[in-house]
Amino acid sequence: MLKVQNLSKSFNVGTENEINLFNRFNLNIEEHKCTAIIGSNGCGKSTLLNMIAGSVPIDSGEIILNGEDISKLKEEERAIHIGRVYQDPSLGVSPALTILENMSLADKKGEKFGLKRLIRKENNEKYEEILKALGLGLENKLNTRVKFLSGGQRQSLSLLMAAMKHPDLLLLDEHTAALDPKTSHVVMRKTKELLSNYKITTIMISHNMKDAIEYSDRIIMLDKGEIALDKRSCDVSEEELLAIYKAKLEEQIA
Ligand SMILES: Nc1ncnc2c1ncn2[C@@H]1O[C@H](COP(=O)(O)OP(=O)(O)O)[C@@H](O)[C@H]1O
Ligand SMILES: [Mg+2]
Repeated sequence: MLKVQNLSKSFNVGTENEINLFNRFNLNIEEHKCTAIIGSNGCGKSTLLNMIAGSVPIDSGEIILNGEDISKLKEEERAIHIGRVYQDPSLGVSPALTILENMSLADKKGEKFGLKRLIRKENNEKYEEILKALGLGLENKLNTRVKFLSGGQRQSLSLLMAAMKHPDLLLLDEHTAALDPKTSHVVMRKTKELLSNYKITTIMISHNMKDAIEYSDRIIMLDKGEIALDKRSCDVSEEELLAIYKAKLEEQIA
């Protein structure tokens, strides 16, 4: 469903800070599965998602979504098919707007309307139902400004808003990293529920190996622009991943 082919990407070419992240990199993402991407800091995980979403240009290669090469499309054009949730809880939502306004905006993504015309009474019931299914009690706070919600509630709302548009692909970039461990756990559980309810193909970057194993179908470890491990999550243990990290670290020091 998503194919990344011969993708190359460098930053600061020709300077002393030149970074060659990817050189003819290939990746195949399966439909309706959650693929977790792990790897050490700075290995290029976020850049990979940014290139898929179109917020960072590629140097060369192809990004094929459902048979179409999207690598030349603008970020806004790709956003119709690709949903995103970021690490920062204020990025996926508009904090100054209410839950209702945020959901209406998400619902009308890609269409051009003024906010007044967006809010339609008949939709409120639909949003209430969707929020109720989330199980966080947000259906009773439709007119609350999102800035008054907790980080966990905001991330759950961001996820719901991304999911309710049934995107072909959902990109999660460490979306629980800014939350405390307990809240992070709740949001991960909600993530899993939403992904299976809405059957969304997902790429989830995670800094947490335990979460990556528990909440994904497949784990890919990136290292120096290459896939160092690619396994079904049910066949991987945290010990195995830690051992690989340790071996790589020792390799670097040696
Ligand atoms: N816009 C940019 N300009 C220059 N270097 C960048 C830019 N974006 C990312 N990098 C560099 O590319 C590398 C990979 O970054 P990133 O994709 O954010 O890593 P990760 O998400 O795996 O931690 C890092 O060394 C980072 O400093
Ligand atoms: Mg990152």
